[in-house]
Parts: sequence; C-alpha cells; structure tokens
Amino acid sequence: MKIAIFASGNGSNYEAIAKACKEERIKAEVALLICDKKNAYVLERAKKYQTKTYVFTLKDYKDKEEYEKTIIKVLKENKIDLICLAGYMKICGSTLLEAYPNKIINIHPALLPAFKGAHAILDSYNYGVKVFGVTIHYVSAEIDGGKIIAQGVIDYKEGDSIEVVEEKIHQLEHILYVDTINKLILKGV
Ligand code: GRF
Repeated sequence: MKIAIFASGNGSNYEAIAKACKEERIKAEVALLICDKKNAYVLERAKKYQTKTYVFTLKDYKDKEEYEKTIIKVLKENKIDLICLAGYMKICGSTLLEAYPNKIINIHPALLPAFKGAHAILDSYNYGVKVFGVTIHYVSAEIDGGKIIAQGVIDYKEGDSIEVVEEKIHQLEHILYVDTINKLILKGV
C-alpha cells in the first residue's frame, strides 16, 4: 500500500506517519509528499525519511483544475492508494476529489462538526469548551464536513494554557492519525 501525504507547513503529522511506516507500525509506505509551499519545514523532515517530494504552487497554474491535474498525474505514476492531508492549507477541488473518491482523509484539531476552519484550537479555547479533541475524516466538497472516521479527546485540566492544550492536541494527533491510517490500510483502504 502506498500513501501520499499532502502538507503545507510544519509537518509533525507527516513525520509521525513516516516514522510509523518505517517502523512497520503502519503496513504501508509513504511514497510521496506533496507540498504547496517551497519553504515549508515539512520539506526538511522529508529529507530525513527520504520521501519523494514534489512542490506544486497553485499560482504557477492557470487554475486549480490544472494544478490538481498535475498532482493527479504524479499520484497515478506512483500508484498511490491513500491520500492523507496533514496540515494541507488548500481546499481540495472536484478534480482531485473525483479522481480519488473515499481515498482522501484529513486530520482536524477539534471535535467536528464543532470548530471547523483553520483556527480550530484557538476558536475552541476562546469559546471555553471543556472537552478538546481531534477528528479524522474523509475529505468531501464541504470543508471539514466529510464522514467522520475517528475521534479522540485530550486530558484537559481546568486552567491549562492554550500552549498546553495545543501540545496535548498535537500529541494526540500523532497517535490517532497513525492508528487510523493503519486500520484503514489493514482493511485494504
Ligand atoms: C494539525 O493541527 C492538523 O490537525 C491541522 O493542521 C495541523 C498540521 O500540523 N489540519 P503539522 O504540520 O502536521 O505539524
């Protein structure tokens, strides 16, 4: 089984997945990293795991369809079975969604359907929720709206700072994403 990871930034989830594959805790290979930011730190992490990497910048293409067609060509060439978004800050368009139905999953740092969007941790913290968590879901045309695959909650203590909550959420993400991907792979995706 071959996984492609899409990421735009730090890449801690990429690294958790790549490490788990290397250690055979996930019975698959991270065959590709697709990144849309040429200075993203995830690119440094990818060197360590020698993951084949492509950087595609949307503004270099006529439109999102052309951009996604280019990505699909690389995905097909590399016989990718599963696409894992991990901090990929682009909305998947219909071109990509139709090419890989039910094969694209995402991790979101809140308990969906609450706190959709790019600032989920800050939004939930500012709202004052007492239960924080992480969601893994299929990617659909509705942002953060696809079918939920798995959720987990952190051990929140009253008075935890946002930094502490963030750290706990990221630790949980790395465990839950690896576990969920492994289960999907074992099922044949
Ligand atoms: C994670 O919090 C993930 O839930 C969200 O983007 C963040 C990516 O973090 N979608 P990293 O780049 O994997 O460290």
